Amino acid sequence: MSRYLALVPAAGHGSRFGAPSPKQYLQLNGKPLMWHTLRALAAVAAIDTVAVVISPNDEWFDDFDWDLPKLQVLRVGGASRAESVRNGLDALDCAADDWVLVHDAARCCLSADAVERLLAEVGDDPVGGLLALPVPDTVKRADAERRVAVTVSRADLWLAQTPQMFRHGPLRQALQGAGLDAITDEASAIERSGGKPLLVEGDAQNFKVTYPRDLALARAVLAARKD
Ligand code: C5P
Repeated sequence: MSRYLALVPAAGHGSRFGAPSPKQYLQLNGKPLMWHTLRALAAVAAIDTVAVVISPNDEWFDDFDWDLPKLQVLRVGGASRAESVRNGLDALDCAADDWVLVHDAARCCLSADAVERLLAEVGDDPVGGLLALPVPDTVKRADAERRVAVTVSRADLWLAQTPQMFRHGPLRQALQGAGLDAITDEASAIERSGGKPLLVEGDAQNFKVTYPRDLALARAVLAARKD
């Protein structure tokens, strides 16, 4: 039977966030932001390993007592998210048909329910899939003067979230070669190789902490959870 492993790329600097330390290490309800992320993944019974990819030059990880089961640290981060994921896949000890759930470190409000839904709906799909949300708002494309050039139909538009789950071998293969900088999620690497990943309805609370204003919402969501 195939295993399930989680891979969390956390080698970014969070330049849009603008804090002196990377956003994944900011304190959130008494723990580093990324602790909540890793804990959510570790809480899923089917996942046996939670591997976090940090930069070889990381100065923060060892300052915390992570105290989490299933945790494996891979100090192989690269220059882009895709490179960090590719290096992490290279370092993972698993079989080509094992499932890898790649999840952003900064999506710290992930719920175990959303992960269980992803696992159930993807099942043994030949390609794999990702959490995503149907776009609820009217969508505008801007011109160079930031005026509305066109209203884009939102029918069939989805916002990609993570986790994104694919089998280790095909995902590793899809992340080989040039042009990695343009790849901002695993699904687009699989699409580039001709695969059509399955969209599984995600959760609005599974947002990515990107700007300082997002912290208050993350704090409130985590505090409201009973556990
Ligand atoms: O920058 P962005 O928020 O899109 O990054 C998404 C995830 O990829 C974050 O968890 C970040 O730490 C990670 N990342 C990485 N290596 C990089 C750049 C980003 O692991 N070189």
